[in-house]
Amino acid sequence: MDRYEAVVERVVATSKLVVLVGGLDAGKSRLSRAIAAAGIAAGRTIAYVDADLAQKSVGPPTCVGLRIPRSEEDLEPDRLRVPEAIYFVGAISPQGQLLPLVVGTARMLAHAREAGADLVIVDTNGLVSGVYGQLLKYHKIEMLQADTVVGLQRGEELDPLFGIVSRFFPSEVVALPVDPNLPVASVDERAGRREDALRRYFTEPLQRWRVKPTVFMPALPSMFEASALDRIVVGLSDGQGGYTGLGYLEYAPDEDVLRLISPAGEAPKALKLGSVRLDESFRVRRVDLRNLFGTD
Ligand SMILES: Nc1ncnc2c1ncn2[C@@H]1O[C@H](COP(=O)(O)OP(=O)(O)OP(=O)(O)O)[C@@H](O)[C@H]1O
Ligand SMILES: [Mg+2]
Repeated sequence: MDRYEAVVERVVATSKLVVLVGGLDAGKSRLSRAIAAAGIAAGRTIAYVDADLAQKSVGPPTCVGLRIPRSEEDLEPDRLRVPEAIYFVGAISPQGQLLPLVVGTARMLAHAREAGADLVIVDTNGLVSGVYGQLLKYHKIEMLQADTVVGLQRGEELDPLFGIVSRFFPSEVVALPVDPNLPVASVDERAGRREDALRRYFTEPLQRWRVKPTVFMPALPSMFEASALDRIVVGLSDGQGGYTGLGYLEYAPDEDVLRLISPAGEAPKALKLGSVRLDESFRVRRVDLRNLFGTD
């Protein structure tokens, strides 16, 4: 039994909530799936919370996703990516999204507990170093009250984070080396995967709803040019604190109206504005809403 298998076995035997941390392409998602598979085989009810906004295992990019896999087949990429619940953050980079990322992960944990999960696996993004990386992981682990933190590291890159977790929390910290043979994707490859995931999500049949300017969070300033919101990603609110899906806005200059484009079946109660815009080939570009609104 190798070190990874030993960790998988120990987590399945003892843990209620495990968080996977590590740099880019460290094997976090693969190890998350391995823990889920072993947990299902051991008869546990597993929840897979995917808190990585960009390289997705569960749900569309820009969202935190939740899946309760009930069989090994459910861990196949095509099935695992269909979420039972999502939380819309509206960005692909965690930078500047600390609060919505932590709130979103907490909402998915609540859903997982309501669904009766007794082992929650939280997969995360590759931002682990620097002040922001540490803050993000610190507050996530704090909010989740993880009993186990598994870190996949190259060299000693996670030592500062491990030190913080061991000093501040009762969580067990498990360090694993990243397999040096692991393929590291280029920036373009990662962007390509993200675009593929968005293109797959926005596959026809798509609904097109006319949008009233009063349905947005944040609220639009008065006299705001609707055209400025063309192709911005939005979260479809169910009016009950949850999200039913992802969409993007389309400005129709001849009618001076905004339409919502989404595969979601039901018209939303409200729309949360994201901070990315999609181009025709689903490449994402960051948008600063404060600049757009001309406010602070
Ligand atoms: N133990 C392993 N043996 C062989 N290949 C692996 C192993 N773990 C991961 N891989 C491969 O390495 C790549 C990265 O793995 P994975 O997606 O799990 O990493 P990650 O840390 O989740 O990356 P990201 O930062 O994109 O979320 C994938 O192509 C995966 O199939
Ligand atoms: Mg991953």
